[in-house]
Amino acid sequence: MILAPLRGVTIRCFREVFAEQIHEAGFTEAITPFLSANPGFDPLKDRELRGAPEQIKVTPQFIGKDPESLRACLLRIKEAGYDTADLNCGCPYPMVRNKGRGSGLLRTPAVLEKMIAVGCETMGDGKFSVKTRLGFDKNDELLALMPMLNSFPLRFLTVHSRNARQMYGGECDWESFKKVAAVAEMPIVPNGDLPLQPYMAPCAQNCESKTSHRGTKTQRIMIGRAFIRQLGMRDDIGELLSRYINASSAELCGPSPVLGRMKELIAYWKDIPRWKRLWPVIKIARTIDELRLAY
Ligand SMILES: Cc1cc2nc3c(=O)[nH]c(=O)nc-3n(C[C@H](O)[C@H](O)[C@H](O)COP(=O)(O)O)c2cc1C
Repeated sequence: MILAPLRGVTIRCFREVFAEQIHEAGFTEAITPFLSANPGFDPLKDRELRGAPEQIKVTPQFIGKDPESLRACLLRIKEAGYDTADLNCGCPYPMVRNKGRGSGLLRTPAVLEKMIAVGCETMGDGKFSVKTRLGFDKNDELLALMPMLNSFPLRFLTVHSRNARQMYGGECDWESFKKVAAVAEMPIVPNGDLPLQPYMAPCAQNCESKTSHRGTKTQRIMIGRAFIRQLGMRDDIGELLSRYINASSAELCGPSPVLGRMKELIAYWKDIPRWKRLWPVIKIARTIDELRLAY
């Protein structure tokens, strides 16, 4: 099981504080929230990748449309010992996609092809993966790109079974997902609204194991929000949250960003009875003490 990148949520500080829970849930790898592969950007200076290796295998994810900037970032992370990397081809936010980044790459196949070529060449065969959606605004756009994607020795292709226009709402379309999986020559990783019991998920039953180019059979699955929601139900969540507040206070400047980070996390729990009561108070907390008093 791969922990999905959730910008602002499954960040390094979170992965460190919740390392045991991430491990217990069955995750063996985490993809980082995206880092921008812009000219001059040094990914090793980013908090995500700075410092000692984490307990879990970490695959840095990059977003961008400039192949040479991507190459420079990948060479840097290799220096630090990261042996896999991922390309974000699914971010749906208009400010990102309209600039041809994230899901915008689905609309510029020539650029996407160059980005993947640089990724595979720099990281090596079977070391570079792509995370995408079924399409930009239609669910058959990825399918049309599969002949091009199949021409690369990708580690895997993660498919969030929505199109970019849907953002994070509406239904996942597993029929369109199956069409992609049927023609894919690389391992396919299903993603989107999957519960934490992955083998019960209908899409997992329908997604056959693929033989990767290295001959190893793998069936991975990527889960994000279901894991985050489940954390809110733990008996020890108050204690874990306090540790997360302390770790976040140590790395951020002042209480506002810490409060923002905690509220973003707790918002996932607002439908759980215990948090439903607390959420109205937490939402308007202006200091860390007010937040601590609320739970
Ligand atoms: C708050 C938030 C931030 C996200 N950040 C990223 C990101 O940085 N990179 C990425 O590829 N996907 C990102 N995603 C998409 C998730 O990785 C995942 O594809 C999506 O949430 C569906 O899976 P889930 O239902 O298991 O969470 C984000 C999603 C959310 C809700």
